[in-house]
Amino acid sequence: MRRPVFAANWKMNHGPTAARAFVAGFTARWSPRDDRTVLLFPPAISLTTVVHALGSREDIGVGVQNIWTDDTGAFTGESSAPMAKDAGARFVLVGHSERRHVFGETDAEAAKKCAAAARNDLTPILCVGELLAERESGATFDVVLRQLDAGLSLLDADAIASMAIAYEPVWAIGSGKTATPSDASAVHAQLRHALEKRVGAAARAIPILYGGSVNAGNATSLLSASGVDGLLVGGASLEPDTWVSICEA
Ligand code: PGA
Repeated sequence: MRRPVFAANWKMNHGPTAARAFVAGFTARWSPRDDRTVLLFPPAISLTTVVHALGSREDIGVGVQNIWTDDTGAFTGESSAPMAKDAGARFVLVGHSERRHVFGETDAEAAKKCAAAARNDLTPILCVGELLAERESGATFDVVLRQLDAGLSLLDADAIASMAIAYEPVWAIGSGKTATPSDASAVHAQLRHALEKRVGAAARAIPILYGGSVNAGNATSLLSASGVDGLLVGGASLEPDTWVSICEA
């Protein structure tokens, strides 16, 4: 059985002061549970603060929202996988829709970032998802399977078996619209099938998260959809009380 994963993507919210206050509020209300995994993805500038504030709370994993493809070099403004690891990250989001559609990140870059994560012992969570026009034209499966194939293309089977995938329809992110549980299930089933074709039975270990306007009111029904192994949450992960209720879904 895959343990449900609850991942908080803070995006460009919570600088160090707010991040410290969040961790204090959340850890006061959330006790370690061995039936679920909780992950926080603060902005890179707050990573060290979050790691220090969590202290001995190793039940709560920490990751970064992005890394660069190379491990070191003249890449002004970027952070590398070894640096994120050194600062206490264990996970990294790769190919989030805002990276793809706001910053123009390509499938090829997502592949290199997954590879950079894997060679530095960070767990990538590869995000895939279709635009509204792609959904409306019936291209959803083609798009997410292309993003999945490309993102995994530089990884060996062991690295694939130890990563995670997030399905986030772009039109559902930050919009208040969510996929129906059955729409999410249909896409998750396609992704699972593609993972099985690549790595066989080892694919069973790979959590596939759903994301896009998840909140405390819809978390339980989305999480109970067949094939949904966890939730990647943006806006509703910013406030400790709401985040606790989502993690209890
Ligand atoms: P949202 O964002 O929950 O605010 O829609 C999800 C995400 O972008 O990961």
